[in-house]
This record gives sequence, structure tokens and C-alpha cells, in this order.
Amino acid sequence: MIYETRHGLAADVRRQVIRILQAALTDALDVRLAVKQAHWNVKGEQFIALHELFDSFVTPLDDEIDTIAERIATLGGAPDGIAQSVVAGTTLSAYPKDITDGGAHLAALAERFAALGNRLRDAIDQSADLGDADTADLFTAASRLLDKSLWLLEAHLQGPSG
Ligand SMILES: [Fe+2]
Repeated sequence: MIYETRHGLAADVRRQVIRILQAALTDALDVRLAVKQAHWNVKGEQFIALHELFDSFVTPLDDEIDTIAERIATLGGAPDGIAQSVVAGTTLSAYPKDITDGGAHLAALAERFAALGNRLRDAIDQSADLGDADTADLFTAASRLLDKSLWLLEAHLQGPSG
């Protein structure tokens, strides 16, 4: 289903771009939930640093999620962010519930931030190939945020010699 709009992109292009955006939205919502899960459950010597680091990801991620969802609406689609759709559609594995130490949470989040960042990077090329430079730009900004967050996570996992 796609709404009529005065937007210049052809309906078929918009339909394909919306599919790419929706897949990104679904995975991003899953990552968003994983970040709070880690924020709440991390324990150990690095507790306060990691507890606060994980929470620092939430607002920027929420902003990107909102931008993706509103781009779907802009193109005449209906963004789907209900929990049941995230469960049914996510490409990420379930966040582990049996981990507590900082390293395990850092690795679990790094895996998910990398997967989402790589998915968004693919989406840059896919939407550009479809002729939607605005959506490609959106994905460019979003993937840059994921990359930076991945760096912050991996910097904790790497020792002094790499
Ligand atoms: Fe909190």
C-alpha cells in the first residue's frame, strides 16, 4: 500500500525505497532495545562507565530511527514500528539474556551495531541506484552514527597493542 503524493519520485521507485527503509527501521528498533537491555544488565568493575556509555547511544539512535520512519511516511508509506513486526522482521539474533560482564555486553552490542551499520551502508547504494539521493543521504548519516558508536564500543575491547 502506498499513498498518493505530489512527490516527484515514481510510485514504483518509492515502493522499493520504502521496502529498504522499513527493513532498516526494523533492525534499528531491535538495536535500540538491545542498547537499553545492556544499559540495565551490565555489571562489573566498569559498571558506571559502560552503563552511561550504553545510554549515550539511545538519543542519537532514536533520532535516526525517527528520520527513517518519517522518510517512509514522506514517500507515501506507512512506517511499521510495532513490537510484533520487529520480532517478525528483524535480521538480528536475540540479544543474550545470560550475560552480565562488560566485555560480553560490549561484544554483543558491537556485533549488532556493525550489522546495522553494514546494512545501512548497503542501503546507501541501493537507494542511490534507485535514484533517491535524499534517502541515500539519510542512510549515509545514519551509517556514520553507527560506525562512530561501533568505534566507541570496540575501543573498550581492544588492548594497548590492538
Ligand atoms: Fe537509565
